[in-house]
Amino acid sequence: MARRIVGSAAAVMLLALAGGLMAAGGSQSLRSAGARIGILAGAAAAPQHFSDPNYTATLIRDYSMIEPENQMKWRATEPARGQFNFRPGDELVRFAQAHGMKVRGHNLLWAKFNPAWLYRGHFTPAQLREIMRQHITRVAGHYAGRVFAWDVVNEAFDREGHLRHSIWYDRPGIGLAGDGTAYIAQAFRWAHAADPKALLFYNDFDAEGINAKSDAIYAMVKDFKARGVPIDGVGLQAHLGLNAAGVSQLAANIARFGGLGVQVQITELDVRVPVNAQGQLLSSNELARQAKVYGRVAEACAQEPACTAFQTWGFTDRYSWIPHHTHEKFGFALPFSSAYKPKPAYYAILSAFKKAERNRSVTGQRIRLERERLR
Ligand code: XIL
Repeated sequence: MARRIVGSAAAVMLLALAGGLMAAGGSQSLRSAGARIGILAGAAAAPQHFSDPNYTATLIRDYSMIEPENQMKWRATEPARGQFNFRPGDELVRFAQAHGMKVRGHNLLWAKFNPAWLYRGHFTPAQLREIMRQHITRVAGHYAGRVFAWDVVNEAFDREGHLRHSIWYDRPGIGLAGDGTAYIAQAFRWAHAADPKALLFYNDFDAEGINAKSDAIYAMVKDFKARGVPIDGVGLQAHLGLNAAGVSQLAANIARFGGLGVQVQITELDVRVPVNAQGQLLSSNELARQAKVYGRVAEACAQEPACTAFQTWGFTDRYSWIPHHTHEKFGFALPFSSAYKPKPAYYAILSAFKKAERNRSVTGQRIRLERERLR
């Protein structure tokens, strides 16, 4: 039952009740507070940590959605041409199913995290087109009915809003180089054919505010909607720092995508904090500043009916991509400490969700939109 999120107002109430009864933290969990306003609370997760009981207990208590951090990327799912490995992804799906969580798939097409055979193969556009078609068809087909939403294409635009050069677009591309977003549209069409029920997202970073990149994504979505290319949503990654300038425009940005008839999900939120050479916080004040950023993102999502999920990239500082990614200059980016203690950021999300409960008309609108989508 808990898997049918926001089917109706009654379902939401039942879910909140069940969440409250099931979860150790009861009404204190992100999962139940999110359910009461029709928002999925998500985290990127990795099955290699499932043997850590604190890891699984926290996930189960606080989250209604998980996304594989790396296990459904091309390098993981098709390590050799035409040979698919779904084991790690399947393990994550089984865990989610056992605990009434939804699974967000990530991702079907990206310029990065691809296997060496793909880069070194010197394939022709016609061959690449067939490789891409087969990959999307096999992966989305395998997870049909178990992955409710896919990031179909990841990070295709640069900060100026131009399409990035990539093996799929123009190096050499699948035969649509120079044809703008045509290769992206093709990916969405194949994904839709493989799993007509999955929600299909375009996902990118630094597009939280209104800027050249989010304008380009907006123009693409508008064009796809006008031409019947099957797109259902935009994922805003939200890898942020303490300044997070774009966040002040986040609500307006979500609203404009909502106006095109697509939903928005916050997909990879983390807020990096600078650390010293020993990897320690410069001052505890930084965690309060971090909490403010988390709270503002949660508020923007909660106040906009088009925002249907709020997901962080991991959930505990014990396992986060930030220290490695920033050459150990930043850390402490997630809502739980490395000892699984909720940080100020956690309470900021929770209080933003709770505050939004008072605004019943937004929740009502979100649930109505969700019901129309399920129809
Ligand atoms: C990151 C993972 O967290 C790392 O473990 C991996 O080494 C590289 O990828 N944008 C995305 C995610 O869409 O897939 C990335 O995940 C982070 C940036």
